[in-house]
Amino acid sequence: MTAKERFYVTTPIYYPSDNLHIGHAYTTTVADSLARWHRFAGRDVYFVTGSDEHGQKIQRAAEAKGITPKEYVDVIVASFKHLWEKLNIKYDDFVRTTDERHHKAVQAVFQKIYERGDIYKSAYEGWYCTPCETFWLENRLVEGKCPDCNRPVEWVKEESYFFRLSKYADRLLKYIEEHPEFIRPESRRNEMVNFIKSGLEDLCVSRTTFDWGIPVPVGEGHVIYVWFDALTNYLTALGYPEATEKMEKYWPADLHLVGKEIMRFHTIVWPIMLMALDLPLPKTVFGHGWLLFDSEKMSKSKGNVVDPLVLIDEFGVDPIRYFLLREISFGQDGNFSRRALIERTNADLANDLGNLLNRTLSMLNRYFDGVVPAPAAQPTELDQDLVAYASGLPQKVDALIKDLKINEALASIWKLVGKANKYVDERAPWNLAKQEQRDELGTVMYNLLETLRIVGLLVKSFIPETGAKIWAQLGLEDIAGKNLDDAAWGLLTPGIQTRKGDPIFPRIEVEKEEEQPVQKQQVKREEPKTAQTPADSPEGVLIGIEDFLKCELVIAQVLEAEPVQGADRLLKLQVDVGDEKRQIVAGIAQHYKPEELVGRRIVVVKNLKPAKLRGELSQGMLLAASTPDGKLEVVSVSDAIPAGSRVK
Ligand code: ME8
Ligand code: MG
Repeated sequence: MTAKERFYVTTPIYYPSDNLHIGHAYTTTVADSLARWHRFAGRDVYFVTGSDEHGQKIQRAAEAKGITPKEYVDVIVASFKHLWEKLNIKYDDFVRTTDERHHKAVQAVFQKIYERGDIYKSAYEGWYCTPCETFWLENRLVEGKCPDCNRPVEWVKEESYFFRLSKYADRLLKYIEEHPEFIRPESRRNEMVNFIKSGLEDLCVSRTTFDWGIPVPVGEGHVIYVWFDALTNYLTALGYPEATEKMEKYWPADLHLVGKEIMRFHTIVWPIMLMALDLPLPKTVFGHGWLLFDSEKMSKSKGNVVDPLVLIDEFGVDPIRYFLLREISFGQDGNFSRRALIERTNADLANDLGNLLNRTLSMLNRYFDGVVPAPAAQPTELDQDLVAYASGLPQKVDALIKDLKINEALASIWKLVGKANKYVDERAPWNLAKQEQRDELGTVMYNLLETLRIVGLLVKSFIPETGAKIWAQLGLEDIAGKNLDDAAWGLLTPGIQTRKGDPIFPRIEVEKEEEQPVQKQQVKREEPKTAQTPADSPEGVLIGIEDFLKCELVIAQVLEAEPVQGADRLLKLQVDVGDEKRQIVAGIAQHYKPEELVGRRIVVVKNLKPAKLRGELSQGMLLAASTPDGKLEVVSVSDAIPAGSRVK
């Protein structure tokens, strides 16, 4: 038996100098999605993240607050973990550089390299960028400032230990040439190669002017340079320096995911540390692009950061995960904006995916009482086309994910969703129903349901809640325990009772003047569209009967009514529309007391796209008209007409 394929993936360990922003959430969401996918595809996965807690920057931040560095980082690290929980990040280990095990690993690494003669004592005199924790040669500065972050540098002069990077430059260049997959994407490989060719200086790996770090094992009064300390976390997580089973199994790492600004540390310093330790190098270091905000890199010090917790509270976790994975071309910079987030959510999640599920299950309720039929008819060309694409999709997505083409992988899944929506229009189940072609109707419905079952499986690594919701509505169980093989076509069993529920992604309505700083803005929910005066209607425009018939007007009985918190115009109604219960939010609170409405039979547009108003789901619209002096009356009918009757 061949051993399971392995996949060890890491994120950078972030500085707890401040709270994390959407840029950090980006790297971690990508890593989590890859980890989940590879696990789903049957691989043995190890996924590690953590916090980089030492160094001058943290020590100063703590001093400014008048607390110890450890007290300072403890609070922020707890907030990291809270964010990862909210974002549905499932890591296998979280390395804190203040962990005792990490202490041991870093000292062992230092000692080993020292003993082989690749670390020596000398004196450092030069520039240092504290926010980046980076030493700089005078000639690399830009207008006297840090070339990476453009902030002022400080002159430092101290006795230090040095690591012989220069000695390994040629060996590293050769390695990079022979392993094209080591540094990705290619543009970054070229940058790194040029950097190495321009000459590597030995690296200062200890400091003496502050003490918040891991002591150098061979030298009193020195703490180990924070990057030397931090990079070692990728070994700490596997139990280094012990020869553990995890070391044996997962080293070398398959993928270090990092932002492009820390590529130098990961593709020059880190590999040379590993060479000096006689350990194999990671298979791939991928330097992704930056999330920009108004075309500038989002960063804590610029104060233009977007807090992912605020976004998750407002939009839910899956729209955020989906946006990050789908919108940004992996490897390149991408813009984050609230408008783009809302547009993506509405287009791909609400209209394409949410609507496919909703319309499919509505039709199934109507034609088959919600029970999955058998695909009894001979497949037509349209059926075959859908089935062929869906059948090839699991392997296609797997290949794209293995090649780190994340946004393309999602696009290929959404192509199936698009095809399925088109299939509904082309196969027109309502016509098959009218013509009583039951076998063919059953086949069409089966194909749609099977497509949704597969889509649920394929999206669950990226948007886990959504996968589970789709399966729950399909009446299926244990999506968590399913794997790539379960995404093969035809495994849906006829006879299952589906459970149509609320739309999984209600449309987010926004007003036109968007595009301000994200945090300062609240989505303005569109005011309800009841109570239109005749002046709003396109008078004089004649429509055909087919236009009118698109509008599904039905009688609904009001079961409950109550005000909406914080919205003095809105009432929230629970209504019976015949085959189900719906919630409708309407702008009628100034005209009706809730109790006046209960029991009434009103007219509602049943097939209106669902929307959220002040956080409340509205699934339909009621009809009303105004008197000349502005008093609103809800259109209603007598008790003789049962709920669900079509108004025509
Ligand atoms: O560099 N767009 O920590 P850090 C995309 N502790 N990704 C972003 C981003 C943005 N605007 N801003 C941050 C450190 N990131 C070190 C790492 S590893 C051994 C030590 C992400 O808190 C991206 O992954 O500054 C970037 O590399 C990382 O956060 C930097 O986090
Ligand atoms: Mg940084």
